[in-house]
Amino acid sequence: MSDVSIGIVGGGLMGRELAAAIGRWAALEDHPVRPRLEAVCDTSPTARAWFERIDSVRLLTDDRRALLEDPELDVLYLAVPHHLHEELYLEAIAAGKDFLGEKPFGIDLGAARRIVAALDASPGVFARCSSEMPYFPGAQLAYETISSGALGELIEVEHAFLHSSDLDRAKPINWKRRAEFCGELGVMNDLGMHVMHLPLRLGWRPRSVYAVLQDIVRERPGPDGEPVRCDTWDNATLHADAGFPLTLAMKRIAPGETNTWRLRALGMDGGVEFSTASPKAVRRFSVRDGRQVWERLETGSQSAFATVTGPIFEFGFSDAILQMWAAYLAERAGALRDRLGCVTPAEALAAHEILHAAQESGATGSAMMVAAAAS
Ligand SMILES: NC(=O)c1ccc[n+]([C@@H]2O[C@H](COP(=O)([O-])OP(=O)(O)OC[C@H]3O[C@@H](n4cnc5c(N)ncnc54)[C@H](O)[C@@H]3O)[C@@H](O)[C@H]2O)c1
Repeated sequence: MSDVSIGIVGGGLMGRELAAAIGRWAALEDHPVRPRLEAVCDTSPTARAWFERIDSVRLLTDDRRALLEDPELDVLYLAVPHHLHEELYLEAIAAGKDFLGEKPFGIDLGAARRIVAALDASPGVFARCSSEMPYFPGAQLAYETISSGALGELIEVEHAFLHSSDLDRAKPINWKRRAEFCGELGVMNDLGMHVMHLPLRLGWRPRSVYAVLQDIVRERPGPDGEPVRCDTWDNATLHADAGFPLTLAMKRIAPGETNTWRLRALGMDGGVEFSTASPKAVRRFSVRDGRQVWERLETGSQSAFATVTGPIFEFGFSDAILQMWAAYLAERAGALRDRLGCVTPAEALAAHEILHAAQESGATGSAMMVAAAAS
């Protein structure tokens, strides 16, 4: 087993999730790597103070250079607002640091191109992009079923990632609801990678896309309670031509849905459906004795990287974060084997190519061709 020292830049919602996942690392059976959280950079004193509870953290700072220049740190987790991705990821590459970068891997297509070009020029840097939802055991079973070819010729695929907290018009504005910090792509920057990871890994790169983009809530209360322009897309529904109809939905306003990730694929020989709203079950379609059958398989918590958790127990978001980090560190160590790897830089760029076409489609009202990925 090898030890890996980790530093976090951006100790907010997701930085704390990684700290918690490392704290639960012993739940993994036989993982080849043992991570240790040693340093955290955040410009907010409140955010930094949270990490005082982690005994292994030896450095808390507001200066990211301290992490970039620290020879003891092997891997960085870069989890900052989108307008900082390009600058920070390029700095990490220049410093020769391996990293898991949060999505969307650059605020827009131009930023993603420059990050991926820098990575292409620095093959020694092992970089991946975050996307944890495909590590739910049900998502893994759906992915394996599709990639095995068991569905036969594909008829159609629907894939969605759905939130609903923005249904509350009184929810205060934050950086994710302002184009300046989140990016012009709005919800597509926020939730897009979650519905791109498996389609791109399965080779479904759309030729064209028609997007219906919605800006439903246009103002939100600012810090002083006064209304502030909320200038990001709330919901995006992409109708893509991937050789079959591929519908990709990303919504902040989907009544009744709380972080619901779902995938439904139908082919001539079978179908499969999984939703994190029912985390223990996968539905599979087949025709048996001339009858159409949807059957429900109980998947439990049996994940790609085995854990101490009993197989009948429920799997959740924090388990998915643990599995994603297990995949990142295993792949970095050359021990991923046949498991699903994290989003590659080339896939992150391909996702941006699709989302850029979707943004143009929303602006023009026409279907747009998706540019060939540069890398
Ligand atoms: N994978 C997922 O499921 C998931 C979920 C939420 C967010 N994200 C992504 O994670 C990233 C961060 O989102 P979040 O929800 O954690 O945001 P957050 O606002 O909770 O945390 C961001 C942190 O970055 C800090 N920060 C800002 N500027 C900084 C700087 N110059 N140097 C150091 N720290 C700085 C802020 O003080 C804050 O603590 C984004 O890219 C977002 O899209 C991913």
